[in-house]
Amino acid sequence: MIAKTACSDFLHFFRSWISNPLRVAAIAPSGDSLARIMTSEIAALDGPIIELGPGTGVFTRALLARGVSEADLTLIEYGPEFIGALQSRFPTARLLQMDAAHLAEADIFEGEPVGAVVSGLPLLSMSPDKIAAIMAGVFTYMRPGGAVYQFTYGPRCPVPRPILDRLGLEAMRIGGTVRNLPPASVYRISRREPLELSRERLRYRKSEAEIDDVAAFSNEAGG
Ligand SMILES: C[S@@+](CC[C@H](N)C(=O)[O-])C[C@H]1O[C@@H](n2cnc3c(N)ncnc32)[C@H](O)[C@@H]1O
Repeated sequence: MIAKTACSDFLHFFRSWISNPLRVAAIAPSGDSLARIMTSEIAALDGPIIELGPGTGVFTRALLARGVSEADLTLIEYGPEFIGALQSRFPTARLLQMDAAHLAEADIFEGEPVGAVVSGLPLLSMSPDKIAAIMAGVFTYMRPGGAVYQFTYGPRCPVPRPILDRLGLEAMRIGGTVRNLPPASVYRISRREPLELSRERLRYRKSEAEIDDVAAFSNEAGG
């Protein structure tokens, strides 16, 4: 049964790639090994979660396996050929058929409630302007400490350095797998800690240490 689904997903994906190679940008869905790395840092409490470019839903299934509630998922898929299968597989997830580059103006959440974004988007086949719009858009919904998880078949983070710098973001490679067609790496992209915040924390830690010293002194002094 599982093998039958995998086979039909492969054919579905392969046909989609033939009709739109730039948008789909892979001949087969990602493998389970990549899906595990993509979701390894995500937990149920990170919801709500956005998934960009779910395709046939490999990462969606991995998110559910990590305990994320289906109702906490917002799936953003541009390809009409994937919509029907996503709807029937994940009926309680919110599914929006739209270009991920228009997320900022779409107002899909109020405020910054999102704890993580899992992206299967083919950034390597997108223009820098489009990548910048996607990153800027998702971070308008991201709560402090939240991150985008993005895979790539390339040798470095697919979000170019000048875009990371302009948006105040940083990228870190968190893993990779050769058990994928083709082999892939996974990056965590998050906000850089603002300088003021770091200084504030330092001050806070210093005053905490001073309070500890006073407590130790008064214990020694018997009061
Ligand atoms: C490489 S496939 C990845 C599919 C799936 N996440 C996986 O790993 O098997 C890229 C997916 O992103 C979708 N996509 C491409 N451009 C998009 C865009 N601008 N907005 C939303 N989805 C997009 C494609 O339709 C496709 O489903």
